[in-house]
Amino acid sequence: MIALIAAASLALSVQQEARIDNLMSRMSLEEKIALVHGDSKFTTAGDPRLGIPKLWMSDGPHGVREEISPNKWNPAGRTDDYSTAMPCGIALAATWDADLAEAEGKAIGEEALARDKQIMLGPAVNIMRTPLCGRNFEYYGEDPFLAGRIAVGFIRGEQSEGVASCVKHFDANNQEFDRDGINVKVDERTLREIYLPAFKAAVQEGGVGAVMGAYNKLRGQYCCQNDYLLSKILKGEWKFQGLVMSDWGAVHDTVQTALAGLDLEMGTDKPYDEYFFAKPLLEAVQKGEVPQSVLDDKVRRILRVMTATGLLDSRPRGSINTKQHQAVARHVAEEAMVLLKNHDGALPLNASKLSSIAVIGDNATRLQAHGGWSSEIKALYEISPLAGILKRVGDQVNVTYSIGYGPGAGPNAAARALQAAKAADTVLFIGGLNHERNFDTEGSDRLDLKLPYGQDELIQRVVEANPRTIVVLVAGSPVEMGPWLQRVPAVLVSWYGGMEAGNALARILFGDVNPSGKLPCTFPKRLSDSPAHALNAYPGTNGVAQYKEGLLVGYRWFDTKNIEPLFPFGYGLSYTRFEYSNLRLSPNAAEFDIKNAGDREGGEVAQLYIHEVHPRLPRPAKELKGLRKVFLKPGETHHVSIPLDRNSFAFYDPDQHAWAVDPGEFTILVGSSSRDIRLQGNLTLRP
Ligand code: BGC
Repeated sequence: MIALIAAASLALSVQQEARIDNLMSRMSLEEKIALVHGDSKFTTAGDPRLGIPKLWMSDGPHGVREEISPNKWNPAGRTDDYSTAMPCGIALAATWDADLAEAEGKAIGEEALARDKQIMLGPAVNIMRTPLCGRNFEYYGEDPFLAGRIAVGFIRGEQSEGVASCVKHFDANNQEFDRDGINVKVDERTLREIYLPAFKAAVQEGGVGAVMGAYNKLRGQYCCQNDYLLSKILKGEWKFQGLVMSDWGAVHDTVQTALAGLDLEMGTDKPYDEYFFAKPLLEAVQKGEVPQSVLDDKVRRILRVMTATGLLDSRPRGSINTKQHQAVARHVAEEAMVLLKNHDGALPLNASKLSSIAVIGDNATRLQAHGGWSSEIKALYEISPLAGILKRVGDQVNVTYSIGYGPGAGPNAAARALQAAKAADTVLFIGGLNHERNFDTEGSDRLDLKLPYGQDELIQRVVEANPRTIVVLVAGSPVEMGPWLQRVPAVLVSWYGGMEAGNALARILFGDVNPSGKLPCTFPKRLSDSPAHALNAYPGTNGVAQYKEGLLVGYRWFDTKNIEPLFPFGYGLSYTRFEYSNLRLSPNAAEFDIKNAGDREGGEVAQLYIHEVHPRLPRPAKELKGLRKVFLKPGETHHVSIPLDRNSFAFYDPDQHAWAVDPGEFTILVGSSSRDIRLQGNLTLRP
C-alpha cells in the first residue's frame, strides 16, 4: 500500500518524485491541461494514454456524501452510496478530543477508500465570527487553537488511510450571506492570529494534501486568485507541497488565477472545455501569458496527491458501514453533548423510577443527516431522538410523542403537547433548529438567534403544565434561551448527532454516559452582544465586510469587554464534579492534578488560557493555548501536563511582519471553562 501522506508533510520519496518527473516529461501540453480542471462535478480527466486514472473527490467533513450525477447537482440515484453519518463539525469540536477526531477521520478515510475517492473535501475550519453563519454547524467553533487541534487530529486519521483531506475554505469565509462576492477586510494581525492558524496547523502539523480556496474576496481579491493567500502565505511561508483547488464555481479568471497559485479548478458553471483552466489556460500558456513552469508546478502538485493516495498504483479496498464506524459515530455524538443546566440533579433520568415520559418537538423525529447541503450524508440508517429513547426504555416506561411545533405541525399541535405534558411524569422537549433555509445550512445565514416556530412560547407553556421539563436543543449554532431558561430544570445541547444521534442522546439522558462536551463557541444572551453585531459589522456594507472587532472574536470579545454571555466558551457540566489542584508552572509546561470528586465516572476538559500582563500591543483578556481531556473514575486523580512553547506566548507583530514573544509577565489560567478558572499563576519570560 502506498499511503505516504506523512503526518508532517506531503513527503514523497526521491523515487516517487523522479517518477512524477518522468510522467511529466512524456505529457503533452493538452494532457497537462486535462489534469488541472474538472471533467464532471467531482472528477478530473486523468490521462488514459499514460495510465493515469481519473481523480475522484467527494464531500465532505461528516462522511462520504452520496453520489451526485456527473453533470448536474441531482443525486445519481444509486443504491450503493449509503455511508456512515458522523455528527456535524461543531459537535466534533465540542468533544475537545483530538484523539476522537483522529478516530473519526480514520473511519471516514476507510469509507472513502471503499467508495474509491482520493480526496475528501473536509475538514471545514472557518472560524465562527458570527453566531448567524449558516455553516457554523460544519465548522469547529470560534477559537483558532481548538479548531486547529481538531483539524489536525481529523486529517491525521483520514490521511493515515491513504486518502487526502482537503481543508476548506481558505480563507475568511465566515458568512454565507453574499458568500460569492463579499469582500472581507481584515487587519493583518487578526488574519494571522484568528483566521489563519487552523489552516496553518492543518498544513504544517496535519500534512494536509489539499486546500480549497474560498468563494469570497479577501482585501479586494477573490480567494482563488489571491496571490497573497495562495502563493505568499500558503505555498511560500508555510511551504505547502500539496494542491490548491477552487471551491465549486469560485474561479473568475484564467491568468491571474493561474499565476496566483490555484492548481485545480472545480465546479465552474460552463462546459468543461471552456473552464478557465481548460482551453483559455492552454491558450494563455501558448501565448506566454502563463509560463510553462507555472502549469508544470500545478501538474506536479496534482500528481503528488495522486501518488500519495495510491491512485497510480493500487489502493486498499477500505471498508464501509461497519459496526466499528457506527460505534465511532455514536462515541463522538456522546462526547459532544453539552449539559448547560442541571438543577437539583434533574438529569440523569432513572428509567426504573419513571412511569411515563412525554416527548415533544419536531426534532424528536426529524432526520438530520441528509441536510445542510454539501455536507449532507445519505446515512445507512439514522436513529432519531425518539427512536433512541424508545429503544432505551423498552416497555418499562410509557412514552408518548407529540410534535408540538414545527413546519409539519397542525393548528392544535400545541394543545395536544400540553395535554401530554400534564399527563406525564417527565417531559423531554426536543427542539432547536434544523437544516432548512436560514437555519443551519450552507447557502444562507440565520436571521436572528431565536428558536423558530414559536418554540420559546411553547416551552414556557409546557413547563407551566409540567415543571419537570428537560429541554434538548438539536442545533449547530448558538440560540437564545432568555424566555424560559430560568424556568426549566435542565438543558442539554445535542448538536446534530449523525446516524447514532438518538442512541447517544438516550445514553446521556439516562446516565449510561456522563456528558463531557464543552461549548466550542460562546452562547450570547442576545445577538447585539456579539462582536460583529455590536459593531454593526455584519453582513457588510456595499459588499464589504470590515472585520472591525479585529482580534476580539467570540470569548476574546466577551471577556475583554466584560460582557456576560448566556453560556461561555468552554462551558459544559457533568454528572460528577472535578477538582483542580497543585499548579506548577514553567515556560515549557503547566502541570496540575484533576480529581473526580463525585461518584460517577466522567470526562473533563482542562483548558489553559494565557493572559499577558503588560502587552506591547493590546491583547485579548485571555487566549486558549492548551487543552487536555481526561476520563476519571470516582475518586481518581490524574496528573496533567500541558506543554507550552513559543507559540503559546506569541502574538503577531504587524510592524515586523512576524510572530513575536516579548519578555515579561504572563498569567496562566487553568479552568473548566473560559469563565470557571480553577487555578492560576504567573510566569515571567526572560529575554
Ligand atoms: C461548498 C464546498 C463543497 C463544494 C462541493 C461548495 O458549494 O462550499 O464546501 O465542498 O460545494 O460540493
